[in-house]
Amino acid sequence: MGSYKDIIFEKKPPIAWVTFNRPDKLNAISLTLIQELGDVLDTLWDDEEIKVLVLTGTGDRAFCAGADITMFQGQKPNSMFHIIRKIVEVTQKMEKFPKPIIAAINGFALGGGCELAISCDFRLASEKAAFGQPEIMLGLIPGAGGTQRLAKLIGLGRAKELCMLGNRIPADEAHRIGLVNMVFPTDKFKEEVQNFANRLAEGPPVALKMAKYACNFGTQVPLDVGLVLESGVFSVLFGTEDMVEGTSAFLEKRKAKFSGK
Ligand code: COA
Repeated sequence: MGSYKDIIFEKKPPIAWVTFNRPDKLNAISLTLIQELGDVLDTLWDDEEIKVLVLTGTGDRAFCAGADITMFQGQKPNSMFHIIRKIVEVTQKMEKFPKPIIAAINGFALGGGCELAISCDFRLASEKAAFGQPEIMLGLIPGAGGTQRLAKLIGLGRAKELCMLGNRIPADEAHRIGLVNMVFPTDKFKEEVQNFANRLAEGPPVALKMAKYACNFGTQVPLDVGLVLESGVFSVLFGTEDMVEGTSAFLEKRKAKFSGK
């Protein structure tokens, strides 16, 4: 769908798929790719047909091998600040996107690729996925949230191992340290991602959005404030038909069927 150059965008309601599509560069991030991803988020924001977004990579080698390093050449501090902010703003848009986003990591997730993955709500990895923040080998550091979001997700010690040693870790280790939610055999990967996405798509959309916001934003403020934020969004759900349906279905011993209202 759409006329995109560096991504493939497919709507298969209730799921939408974005496939990073620069196979000759292991799906490295170009400015076009990041602008196109931002555009898809805007397009899907209010699209009621779509309940879940999945990000993945073309081919069987890479989810995304990071920022396209050719983009760094000739940059000055001010021009690079402008570029890196564009990438960071898309990662923030992912965190604010009102539906779950799954990173389906089918190969390398390095540098900005790992940073895109950790801006998603869930990370599902194929057995051959590999993770890392190798920027230190380039005389750099992660610039699109790696030092911040990794520290929150896997703890400061592990985050420093990745960011300061540039270690590359396989999927099973990424699972062990909590960087990915689940690892699946490569031959079953697409099917398992689809099953996971379907399960989320059957959930109550407003409650899913509120859970995402409470986790993403309630944890950025002091606990007292986060807990009040949680109480507020918990209470908002008492205005939804899905809350009535969910509680009634439980008491009637049947499966709930959520409408999104
Ligand atoms: N930016 C630009 N081009 C990249 C890239 C990146 N981040 N990652 C891979 N590519 C390109 C390579 O230059 C190569 O292009 P070429 O065929 O025109 O020479 C092609 O993708 C295939 O990569 P190659 O390095 O030949 O594959 P490999 O199997 O030997 O190694 C990686 C795979 C991922 C380990 C290696 O490509 C790599 O280290 N990439 C950079 C990762 C990185 O540092 N990311 C953070 C950037 S800030």
